Amino acid sequence: MASFDESPDQRLAEVLRSVVTHAHAVVRETRLTEDEWNAAIKFLTDAGNITTDTRQEFVLLSDVLGISMQTIAVNNRAYEDATEATVFGPFFAQDAPRIDQGEDIAGGAPGQPCWVEGTVKDTDGNPVAGARIEVWEADDEGLYDVQHTDGRVYGRAWLESDKDGTFRFWGLTPTPYPIPHDGPVGKMLQSTGRSPYRAAHLHFMVSAPGRRTLVTHIFVEGDPQLGAGDSVFGVKDSLIKTFETHDANEPTPDGRRLDKSWASTRFDVVLAPEDV
Ligand code: BEZ
Ligand code: FE
Repeated sequence: MASFDESPDQRLAEVLRSVVTHAHAVVRETRLTEDEWNAAIKFLTDAGNITTDTRQEFVLLSDVLGISMQTIAVNNRAYEDATEATVFGPFFAQDAPRIDQGEDIAGGAPGQPCWVEGTVKDTDGNPVAGARIEVWEADDEGLYDVQHTDGRVYGRAWLESDKDGTFRFWGLTPTPYPIPHDGPVGKMLQSTGRSPYRAAHLHFMVSAPGRRTLVTHIFVEGDPQLGAGDSVFGVKDSLIKTFETHDANEPTPDGRRLDKSWASTRFDVVLAPEDV
């Protein structure tokens, strides 16, 4: 502990003292063998070797150990009825296309069309106009556009809330999919009998001046994966939404008739103030 006393960065010293305290406790409590220590070093080396600009195995490791969700919990204090945050995940892209209200984020991605509407409000119930709403999701095979190697852009877009805080768009009904499990983290899940599957979800990031940026998802009520468990512990009850299924030809909220069944859901977002 004392080796960090002269650190010019006392916050760094505080974190490292805690890391050392807990890591030593792991070794003592488990009577870690030298073979196990070597296996742990090899695991971390493999995680480093598979990591590239587009594949971050250490974030994945943090996710499946619940460390990401714990970090989100301590950094997004519950505030009045503000919408809860959840894990960011590796599949956000900065330069998603912009859409107008009522347009489609699917961009040709296969899946069941899903109408999503809602409002963005502050914790006093006032509409937040012009909030930037980023949305991204996997196709019905459980793959994000960036996991394909042909540079396609689909299943993602951003739009702005209207003057009255409302928003609406077409997307896809989310389906469960596995996190990337062809690397060391996948091997760890397999060795411990854990599933790589995530509960079906649609990602949101909502930001507005003076408001805490919200990174979250909505989950699908009735999805069997909710009961089986989410591999990154991202589910919160308040984020589980009803997705209603509609028959083909039932008129859609924007007055169209589709030749296949579609779904609809609602997500009312409440943003906390920036400084809480
Ligand atoms: C995702 O939801 O996209 C995700 C989150 C954590 C790890 C892998 C994927
Ligand atoms: Fe996801």
